[in-house]
Amino acid sequence: MAEALSIRAWDGAVEATPEAARRPAPTAAYGDVPAAFTIGGRVRVTPNVVLAPMSGITDSVYRTLIKDLNPGAVGLVVTELVSIEGLARRDPRTFGMLRHVPREHPLSIQLFGSDPVRMAEAAAIAQDLGADVVDVNCGCPVPKVVKRGGGAELMRQGPVLGAILRALRGVLAIPYTVKIRAGWDDTSRNAVEIARLAEGEGAAMIAVHGRTRLQLYTGHSDWDLIAEVKQAVRVPVVGSGDVEQAADALMRVRTTGVDGVMIGRAALAQPWIFRDVAALRAGIVPRPVTLAERLATVDMVLARLDAELPPEAALGRARGLACRMIKFIRGGGALRESLTRLPSIAAMRDQVARAAAAPEPDDDIPTPPPRLLFH
Ligand SMILES: Cc1cc2nc3c(=O)[nH]c(=O)nc-3n(C[C@H](O)[C@H](O)[C@H](O)COP(=O)(O)O)c2cc1C
Repeated sequence: MAEALSIRAWDGAVEATPEAARRPAPTAAYGDVPAAFTIGGRVRVTPNVVLAPMSGITDSVYRTLIKDLNPGAVGLVVTELVSIEGLARRDPRTFGMLRHVPREHPLSIQLFGSDPVRMAEAAAIAQDLGADVVDVNCGCPVPKVVKRGGGAELMRQGPVLGAILRALRGVLAIPYTVKIRAGWDDTSRNAVEIARLAEGEGAAMIAVHGRTRLQLYTGHSDWDLIAEVKQAVRVPVVGSGDVEQAADALMRVRTTGVDGVMIGRAALAQPWIFRDVAALRAGIVPRPVTLAERLATVDMVLARLDAELPPEAALGRARGLACRMIKFIRGGGALRESLTRLPSIAAMRDQVARAAAAPEPDDDIPTPPPRLLFH
């Protein structure tokens, strides 16, 4: 590889110089930050840090991996979005997305679609298969989903969302929840209104990603709006968006009053982030993860996928996940490039082992560097 590998400073860090990164993170007392909440009077989420649903990523293999890397530190995991149309067609691939193992509980199965009858049928299937919670996706921005009335389009179709939730009330004994966005666009930031509607129709928790549909993943998640949603409803509110470091999770709970936070993309780069949140809560500043440890985690992911999925599916998932994990390693471009071309997981693991055996450069920057935004 042309460039030596080292841990790259976290994207978007306020201070990303090696000097700043080497400073120990400020010790802060987080003991006062609420640590748990309950969904619908029956599903205890403790701690109140949730693995966000991520399409193409948070399948059972990834969810268990995150639980195993963060023992006792992930309060709830959510499946990737599952098509109610696929379930209605009895599509085996869609049914495969409902598969889970006992140690994932509590587990929320997220459904997307716009037809109330099909949503109720799909929710009943999820319940029968052991879901603790059913979540309705009201935030997916993908045109294919939105054009058919699902995902973020439900933010513009209050009556349809109301009908969906009423249909769920008719069939579910387990709680149902919604995950919404800030709104459709800047002229319709209606998260508060939709949250009230959902609560009125029996939703037992509201998760809010504070970006609009049009924003996709640009700009920032609007945590002021998330705080407004929290003020507007009595059911638990979980905030989502831009929790980049462990301290962010606790500070968001403290400063906005939300009941919990979701972590999505940061869990890709730092699959151990939930453990770090737990450590901070206990007053321990987590030590930076070394490059060798990071690559060992990549290897562990590859081994899991190899063991648990059919070869072709495993290879595709391995390429995607390894690339996302390596994205945050300086000089990782060449490694990433080669991993996407290798024909088997065994070859990928060899390549990762070779990278891990290379000496770490002196200017290794611990990741993530302490971000001083909240301190
Ligand atoms: C690759 C990817 C896939 C996602 N898939 C879903 C999904 O299936 N359902 C959903 O509600 N949100 C989905 N999201 C949104 C996340 O759950 C989360 O709200 C968003 O990424 C902001 O949080 P973060 O900054 O912690 O990543 C996805 C996000 C990403 C990056």
